[in-house]
Amino acid sequence: MSASEIDLAISAAREAGALIRDALDQAKNVERKSPINLVTETDRAAETIILGILRAAFPADAIVAEESAGGDRPSGRAWVVDPLDGTTNFVHGLPHCAVSIGLLDDSGPLAAVVYDPCKDELFSAERGSGAWADGKRLSVSAEPQLSESLLVTGFPYDRRTYSAFYLSYFERFLHAARDLRRFGAAALDLCYVAAGRFDGFFEWKLHPWDTAAGWLIVEEAGGRVTNFAGEAYDPWGVRVLATNGHIHDQAVAEFAGLPEHPDDSPVG
Ligand code: IPD
Ligand code: CA
Ligand code: CA
Repeated sequence: MSASEIDLAISAAREAGALIRDALDQAKNVERKSPINLVTETDRAAETIILGILRAAFPADAIVAEESAGGDRPSGRAWVVDPLDGTTNFVHGLPHCAVSIGLLDDSGPLAAVVYDPCKDELFSAERGSGAWADGKRLSVSAEPQLSESLLVTGFPYDRRTYSAFYLSYFERFLHAARDLRRFGAAALDLCYVAAGRFDGFFEWKLHPWDTAAGWLIVEEAGGRVTNFAGEAYDPWGVRVLATNGHIHDQAVAEFAGLPEHPDDSPVG
């Protein structure tokens, strides 16, 4: 990853983020991908900006983007883009959402940018060079005990069909951890683990665009990202566990006692 690549990803994220910030308190044109999965013209406009910049600069790279460019796993270098993570927050004018841009290659994540336009906070990482937020190096928390940990999670878009199943996971960690939050923007959940604000994060059925950038930001901040069994993370998989590393095995042990999903295929 050369300086121009991360710089370009940062400027694309900032440009899309400015659009999101300006639209946050305006009336919105909301469409439904499903009864609870929303999309707005701002999601699409933000994606158009980002993809225009990336395609012009890196025409040979693949692109996986939530609103247009398909979700299949590419080989080689691929930009993985969520133009607006936290659309439900955005629709309600809740200032907690982000632009997420990750660059993967066949060895894993190469570079990452997550920009929160509401707080004007930019998280970034490059493989082997640490994770940063606005010039400050990020480091995960030092908390060694799951029982003293503050965790965050989210619920996928089949949450009405499988509400009892997802709540069984929520309930387990209400007992195992100090407390558990649901903030509504997975890319920021991951960055907050990297920043030591949360000690851990887990969620079912995220998509590669939700996690590709945050994955690297957590790892470069000294944390660990796996599936619920503690195995290597696959952003095309349906289980993500990201922690400060110290509580990881304790969290994996909690998952071991929980039921399997009745339908663990991805959800739109
Ligand atoms: C969603 C958010 C949310 C998570 C959902 C995601 P979107 O992304 O990250 O926190 O719980 O599973 O789909 O739809 O707002 O880009
Ligand atoms: Ca998302
Ligand atoms: Ca999105």
